Amino acid sequence: MNQQTSIEDFIKKIPKAELHLHIEGTFEPELMFEIAKRNKIEIKYKSIEELKNAYNFNNLQEFLDIYYEGAGVLIEEQDFYDMTWAYLQKAHSQNVIHAEIFFDPQTHTDRGIKFETVINGIHRAVTDAKEEFGMSAQLIMCFLRHLDEESAIKTFKEALPYKDKITAVGLDSSEVGNPPSKFQKVFEMARGEGFLTVAHAGEEGPAEYVWEALNLLKVSRIDHGNHCLDDEKLIAELAQLQMPLTVCPLSNLKLKVVEDLTEHPLKEMMQKGLLVTINSDDPAYFGGYINENYLAITKALNLSKEDIVQLAKNSFKATFLEDSAKKEMIKKVEECIYETVM
Ligand code: ADE
Ligand code: ZN
Repeated sequence: MNQQTSIEDFIKKIPKAELHLHIEGTFEPELMFEIAKRNKIEIKYKSIEELKNAYNFNNLQEFLDIYYEGAGVLIEEQDFYDMTWAYLQKAHSQNVIHAEIFFDPQTHTDRGIKFETVINGIHRAVTDAKEEFGMSAQLIMCFLRHLDEESAIKTFKEALPYKDKITAVGLDSSEVGNPPSKFQKVFEMARGEGFLTVAHAGEEGPAEYVWEALNLLKVSRIDHGNHCLDDEKLIAELAQLQMPLTVCPLSNLKLKVVEDLTEHPLKEMMQKGLLVTINSDDPAYFGGYINENYLAITKALNLSKEDIVQLAKNSFKATFLEDSAKKEMIKKVEECIYETVM
């Protein structure tokens, strides 16, 4: 006789795609200290414990200040490889079978690290994950929106020789005061070269930024999108387009986008017909990878097994994969449901 499966085990077991994940946000303190030591770089925190204690944020900017500082110990190609490989192993262990990963080249090139060092280290880990786990991953190059568009254009040009390794461009960092319209030209250049586009919008910024991401940057997904709920017309548009929103519950909690997970808008988004997915954003900083995000939001909002299935299927629908590959992965979700007694 089959054993009853708990909702926790079901979450662990169900195949998932992760679509909102900053590779620099997977940099665990233990690995950070190890890499800092081998690169002979001093970290301002004396111990792993002290560093972890600093992970208390009142808003996005307080987090970003620590996140950019942490990334400062990454120097060699092997460092980028090790960080990416650690994430891919973790994701594989949580039944993530496909990931679309953000990286922030300007965080590194502005410190004198070559673009090729960053991309080659990250991409080599992606190739190894395919070989070792059969797990697929694609890369999304994000522009830092607190910097000017000239810097984004310079980075875009540096990326062109590595075009075959990058699927899409994105927009991240400090949102308020840095609207998508600031990057209209570089996104147009990117689309002209065949890149897909995404943008963080409506995390701390207003619904208007989500409109701009849609209309000016012509994005294929909105990252976060929480504030779309302030605008009925926008909700209708996003639902009609079936525009994916890559939602990050533990991130929203840690950055105080929501006061408590029980107040998280995920369920409301689903009820309004939006195509939402669950993601971990910066798991090393926010206290959980994808399964912890699924579990925390499931408990907070009392989600059902059907909701979880919907979210897992949405994650594949929202990928940049070919339709045939999406279908194959959704079939794996179906097989998982079939095998599960609840
Ligand atoms: N960079 C890393 N995480 C981010 C987030 N949640 N919002 C904006 N930029 C980011
Ligand atoms: Zn993010």
